[in-house]
Amino acid sequence: MSSASDLAKAQYLLKLLGKRRVQVTTEIEEDSSQFDLMIDMTENGTNFEEELLTATTEEQKRTEDTVKGIYDDLIEEGRVPHLLKDKHEKYLNAALGQLPPAFKGLDASQPWIYYWVINSMKLLQLEVSQDVKDQTARKLLGLQHKDGGLGGGVGQIGHAAATYAGTLALTLLEDEETWNKINRDQLYKWLLSIKQDDGSFVMHLGGEKDTRAVYCALVIASLFDLLTPELTKGTAEWLAKCQTYEGGFGGVPYDEAHGGYTFCGAAALVILGKDVFTKTINVEKLVKWTVVRQLRLEGGFSGRSNKLVDGCYSFWVGGLIPIFDIFLDHETASRAGLQNYILGCCQNEQMGGLRDKPGKYPDFYHTNYVLLGLTVVQNKFKSDDFTPYTISSEPSDHSVVSVEGCDKLDTINPIFGLPKGYAERFHSFFATKTK
Ligand code: FPP
Ligand code: ZN
Repeated sequence: MSSASDLAKAQYLLKLLGKRRVQVTTEIEEDSSQFDLMIDMTENGTNFEEELLTATTEEQKRTEDTVKGIYDDLIEEGRVPHLLKDKHEKYLNAALGQLPPAFKGLDASQPWIYYWVINSMKLLQLEVSQDVKDQTARKLLGLQHKDGGLGGGVGQIGHAAATYAGTLALTLLEDEETWNKINRDQLYKWLLSIKQDDGSFVMHLGGEKDTRAVYCALVIASLFDLLTPELTKGTAEWLAKCQTYEGGFGGVPYDEAHGGYTFCGAAALVILGKDVFTKTINVEKLVKWTVVRQLRLEGGFSGRSNKLVDGCYSFWVGGLIPIFDIFLDHETASRAGLQNYILGCCQNEQMGGLRDKPGKYPDFYHTNYVLLGLTVVQNKFKSDDFTPYTISSEPSDHSVVSVEGCDKLDTINPIFGLPKGYAERFHSFFATKTK
């Protein structure tokens, strides 16, 4: 020991180590709040979120209160909500005329508007006039870029999402003359140009890569019968890396799992061929992630953990239900719960159109994806050989979800988000041509 302070330290330590501790007994006053809480927890299911309020939990509570109010009113009136087909028809017809100036923000998304609107009309089994079909064909062909693919607007370079939406719209036109005007050889070269060495795809030359781009590229390639080993090498493996610890898919490896990317990842794996879906990813974890996306009170889906219900996830997440129908032999979500959210909370009763949640305005995007979600709950899907063009469906068992005639929509091919038959006919047309 060289200094006084070292000596003091040693004495202190010796005291701690060597001395017998003096036992101190403190009388603790019995605190009944612990028991009160226990009683509350068992009897009322105390919600700890009330003690830990954040902006997110407050928003969740507000949403639950609104939805509960809607359900309580319906229960009190003793009625179930129905699909307001006439209102939605009027809403969609407005899109076919001159859109108001506010729509200029969607100028680079022109193929999307055609897909959302015509697809919604077909799901509702509405007539699409020859005039509208001709105008759509002219517009879509005008978006074809000389280097391949469709741009979002005239003169724009090929973009995976614009080409995907445009291709879906083309299938709905059922016009072989128009289909033949797509430069398929150039389209294939362009698809190869956006393919990355790691198996993924980018949205456009120099653009971002993610599971959306992969799904868009594979849908385009599949529908035009251009899926080749050269184009799909390494893609399933790259997609598998996007499945997160939660079970859903992120946009890229290590990203947060999200409904939009999860549908894209799962459907892309189904397109890649028989059994790729079951062999490449952890399906059980994907099911678990999907199950917890369905909100207990609302019945609709959220897109990710701790976020709010949104009508569009009726397809981005609900669209996984048909995939599970095909590969598994049990129900994976409450179809009836989702039906309640869609019919009770997603319809705008005044102007028509479907929406994210009560209090939001409807739009064409939500109209399409909410209707797709509704047809998912109305049908049970199967495919004997697990391929995207052999998927069939039967109306859901009435004990699972009761569908009145007035609510009935066309059934779909869930992998492409199209009414049944359109993807199949388009693909058969191109399958007769040489690659
Ligand atoms: C909202 O994120 C994002 C969406 C509502 C769209 C997600 C959809 C996709 C990524 C799929 C796109 C598919 C193709 C084919 C291009 P947010 O963070 O605002 O919403 P949140 O709070 O619900 O997560
Ligand atoms: Zn949405």
